[in-house]
Amino acid sequence: FAAVDVITAKRDGGTLTTAQIDWVVGAYTAGEVAEEQMSALLMAILLNGMAPAEIAAWTAAMIRSGVRLDLSGVGRPTVDKHSTGGVGDKVSLALVPLVAACGAAVPQLSGRGLGHTGGTLDKMASIRGWRADLSPEALTGQLSRIGAVICAASPDLAPADRKLYALRDVTGTVESVPMISASIMSKKIAEGTASLVLDVKVGDGAFMKTRERATELARTMVELGAAHGVRTTAVLTDMSTPLGRAAGNAVEVAEALDVLAGGGPADVVELTLALASEMLALAGIDRDPARVLASGGAMDSWRAMVSAQGGDPAAPLPRPAEVEVVTAERDGTVTELAALPVGLAAWRLGAGRARKEDPVQAAAGVLCLARPGERVVRGQPVFELHTDTPERLDAARSELAGALRIDPGDAAPLRPLILDTVR
Ligand code: URA
Repeated sequence: FAAVDVITAKRDGGTLTTAQIDWVVGAYTAGEVAEEQMSALLMAILLNGMAPAEIAAWTAAMIRSGVRLDLSGVGRPTVDKHSTGGVGDKVSLALVPLVAACGAAVPQLSGRGLGHTGGTLDKMASIRGWRADLSPEALTGQLSRIGAVICAASPDLAPADRKLYALRDVTGTVESVPMISASIMSKKIAEGTASLVLDVKVGDGAFMKTRERATELARTMVELGAAHGVRTTAVLTDMSTPLGRAAGNAVEVAEALDVLAGGGPADVVELTLALASEMLALAGIDRDPARVLASGGAMDSWRAMVSAQGGDPAAPLPRPAEVEVVTAERDGTVTELAALPVGLAAWRLGAGRARKEDPVQAAAGVLCLARPGERVVRGQPVFELHTDTPERLDAARSELAGALRIDPGDAAPLRPLILDTVR
């Protein structure tokens, strides 16, 4: 094969053969197809789409680019969850120990954040001593004993995705249903989980801005899971406003700890319990997650999970060098709090990275002190900006200008959080 023939076939709206896809994914992973050629092919795929058979072949080629783990020996039903990426989405932090406390094994192999969406590993890394890297033996041992693992995916798991994701991120080719589906499902199928719940985000703060596109993404991923023997359910959830009040790293860990302690923002609790119910249904476990959360069992699993990975669950979380408060400009009711600007502000403050080799600040982030439906008076604090680098405050403040809409009178009805379920 020649890369240029594959590129022109897709550019002209053709369908790639399985042989072409196997070759181009394998050769690119091996460094034999140039970055500029893969960039052109990705753009052609983004613009012209892929047929279901092409998506299936692309996903299978990405799985075959590395190893597929075997978790059949952990002695508990395995079930994982993956979010397509949002702002303030700390749900995994409480969900993983909760579902483990109900009797399942949750092998959450996660990534770091890139762009405005946070990464679970970056959040967990704000816990003193916590290690993201686990050997395969440590992973299966912890899954058997505790049931809860949040760790880094090893480099031999879908290595094609690592290279492709980094390239998509810098070539404007992330927002493609075939590429997001293949990226997420290749990693989750290779990880060896028996079942999977996907949280497909819809709205301003998500990669899929409309319900139609999110439904298409959900259906594609559910079918890919079924084709590879992974029972998969997708839940469509609103990402037009951040989840909870915190967006960043340590600030999100603190909010997840509130949920584990039986409190926390209502939307975070609602989504955690809804996703837990779907995960337990797939795992065939008949427990009520709300009761297990209230009993403190999920907090026990959290502490065991953090300690097993070298972390100190009792250590204080890092505090920022600088905190700045933004206040309300008028009296009224918050009718909108836009997710994307909050995500961008947290990223500017140092919670995320601009290049994949950049470090992140554990203490950086945004607290949203006023959420949709809440009344505020002029001068009342509505945002808290946390950073170790005060020179970034201006950039964060400009991202947030216009993020909050305050209208006179009473609140409009709130948007529902859980929009649909695709099985
Ligand atoms: N998350 C992933 O893992 N991959 C994507 O392509 C998008 C979100």
